[in-house]
Amino acid sequence: MNQAGIKVAPSILSADYSRLGEEIRRVEAAGADWIHLDIMDGHFVPALTFGPQVVASLRKHTDLFFDAHLMIENPERQLESFARAGVQNITVHLEATRHLHRLLKEIRDLGLKAGVALNPATPPEALRYVWDLVDLVLVMSVNPGMGGQAFIPAVLPKIRFLADFIRREGLPVELQVDGGINGETAREVVEAGATVLVAGSAVFQSPSGMDLIQAFKSLGGPTRAV
Ligand code: DX5
Ligand code: ZN
Repeated sequence: MNQAGIKVAPSILSADYSRLGEEIRRVEAAGADWIHLDIMDGHFVPALTFGPQVVASLRKHTDLFFDAHLMIENPERQLESFARAGVQNITVHLEATRHLHRLLKEIRDLGLKAGVALNPATPPEALRYVWDLVDLVLVMSVNPGMGGQAFIPAVLPKIRFLADFIRREGLPVELQVDGGINGETAREVVEAGATVLVAGSAVFQSPSGMDLIQAFKSLGGPTRAV
């Protein structure tokens, strides 16, 4: 079986905001697969980050896959702007919409991959009737809102459940884990079945952060495609 291996998506939330273009080129050179863009609106989560204009400027610095994680209320109002800014994936929070099916369909209709994020307390069963519209599930392993928080081990059974389901049904869906990922927790979530790791502070705020990218990728093990 041709397993695609582990993808690493550094989150620029913890990068140096005065030179984001350079930071992106640094993780790209270190082997990053995707760039994870944490969009916060001061409502769904207390913090504010950046919007489509910044994303459009960053687009000029790399051809890497842009993975937008929208931690915002009324995400339907922003889909087009982010699509125009050049992202390839939009992930919306299940908790931020009453109309998940419609939202996912709108993302797909824009020609993008569609992701659903689940807060630590959110059970995965709500995905049951939308799987045909889902390209990625993001399991939050911290409560959304800031970088540098401790991994919540209680989400491991949820990752296992989703990984088993996706494998059993043969779905073309990535299983992404976001929050508190470091050398130790990366191993645990990959063992549980994660296929995409998001890491912010571990990559951008530690001296050996760039080496971690390759270390995370190699967790895919011997079945990894070369
Ligand atoms: C949290 C964000 C994460 C965050 C992860 O709300 O969604 O992407 O940047 O940061 P670390 O890796 O520092 O936990
Ligand atoms: Zn994120």
